[in-house]
Amino acid sequence: MSTLLLLPGDGIGPEVCAEVRRVAAALTPDLKVEEAPYGGMSYDAHGTPLLDEVRDQAIASDAVLMGAVGGPKWADAPRHLRPEAGLLNLRKAMDVYANLRPAYCFEALAGASSLKPELVSGLDIMFVRELVGGVYFGQPRGIEDLPDGQKKGFDTAVYTTSEIERVGRVAFELARGRTNKVHSAEKSNVMESGLLWKQVITDLHAREYPDVQLEHILADNCAMQLVRAPKQFDVIVTDNLFGDILSDAAAMLTGSLGMLPSAALGAKGKPGLYEPIHGSAPDIAGKGLANPLAAILSFEMALRWSLNQVEAADALLAAVKAALDSGARTRDLGGSLTTAQMGDAVLAAL
Ligand code: NAD
Ligand code: IPM
Ligand code: MN
Repeated sequence: MSTLLLLPGDGIGPEVCAEVRRVAAALTPDLKVEEAPYGGMSYDAHGTPLLDEVRDQAIASDAVLMGAVGGPKWADAPRHLRPEAGLLNLRKAMDVYANLRPAYCFEALAGASSLKPELVSGLDIMFVRELVGGVYFGQPRGIEDLPDGQKKGFDTAVYTTSEIERVGRVAFELARGRTNKVHSAEKSNVMESGLLWKQVITDLHAREYPDVQLEHILADNCAMQLVRAPKQFDVIVTDNLFGDILSDAAAMLTGSLGMLPSAALGAKGKPGLYEPIHGSAPDIAGKGLANPLAAILSFEMALRWSLNQVEAADALLAAVKAALDSGARTRDLGGSLTTAQMGDAVLAAL
C-alpha cells in the first residue's frame, strides 16, 4: 500500500487539500493518506515551519502533496523560520531538482484566458524548472551595514555543471515523448551562471540528445513570446528564478493560476513533491472561493509520476475535463462555484 503525505499548510492550502482528500477517498481508497503540520501553522504550533520528523516522514513516504504556505501573518518572522523557508528546506531535503509545471489549456477554458482563445486553444507547454539551486540557495546572501550608513542586500546566483545537466536530461527525455522540442531559457548575455547554463545544455544536447530540436532563448524574450505566441513552445527548461516567474505568467494563459499543478521530481525511486503553483491566496482564504483544480491536478500528477497508478490518473484527468465541459467554474474562472462545489463536480464526473 502506498502512502501519500498531505501538507495542507496555510491560507487556501487546507481548503484545496480537503478536495484532494475527497477525490483520493473515492478514486484510490487503498492509498494511505497521512497529514502533518507545515508552514505558518507549524511555526505557530511548534516554532518551526518544518519539523525534523515531518521532513523525515516526507522522505519516507511515496509522494508528498502540499497545499500552500505563507501569508501576511508571518511576514516579520525571521527569514529561516518563515513558512516559505520550510518549503525551500523540504525541496532541498527531498532533492527534488526537476519541477514539472505543465501549462495546459483545457478546451473549455480557452475563453477564460487573458489571451484570445485562438492563441491558447490547444496550448500544452511543459516547464522544467530547476528547483534546488540557483539564486534561491546560493551563498553568500544577506543584508549588511555599509560604512556610510546604507545597507547592502545581496544574493548569489550559482549553478554547477552537474546541477544543469541533471535537469537538462529531464527536459530532453520529456521532449522525446512529446513533440521533441526544447527551449532553454537563461540570461547568458548578462549572467555568468546563465552562460554556463547555455554551454552545458549545448554540450549535453550534442552528446546525448542530437535527435531533439533545441533552441536557446533569453528569458526576457521568452516572457514576451509566451504572451505573444505561446503555442510555439513545447518543453521549456530554465533555472529556479526564471522558472518561477515564467510559469506564473503561463498559468494565466490557461485561464487561472488556480489551474496549474506541479510535480517536483528527484532521483528515480525517491518520492516526488507535488504542489499547485499558486500560493496561500490570503485575499480569498477562508471564503470557499479557491479553485481546487490545481491541487486536484497535482494529485493526478502524483498518481502518474510517483504512485504508479496511471489508470487512476487518466480517470481523474478525464473527470476534470468533464467537469469543465459541463460548465463547472469557480470565481477565478468567471463562475460562482465554491471550492467544495468544484470538488463535487469532479467527483460526479468520476
Ligand atoms: P498567490 O498565488 O497566493 O495569489 C495570487 C493571486 O491569485 C491572488 O489574487 C489569489 O486570490 C489568486 N489565486 C491563487 N490561487 C488561487 C486559487 N486556487 N483559486 C483562485 N484564486 C487563486 O500569490 P501571492 O498573493 O503573491 O502570495 C501569497 C502568499 O503565498 C505569500 O506568502 C507567498 O510567499 C506564498 N506563496 C506560496 C506558494 C507555495 O506554497 N507553493 C506559492 C506562491 C506563493
Ligand atoms: C512557488 C512559490 C515559491 C517559489 C515560494 C513560496 C518559495 O512562489 O512554488 O512558485 O518561489 O518557489
Ligand atoms: Mn511561484
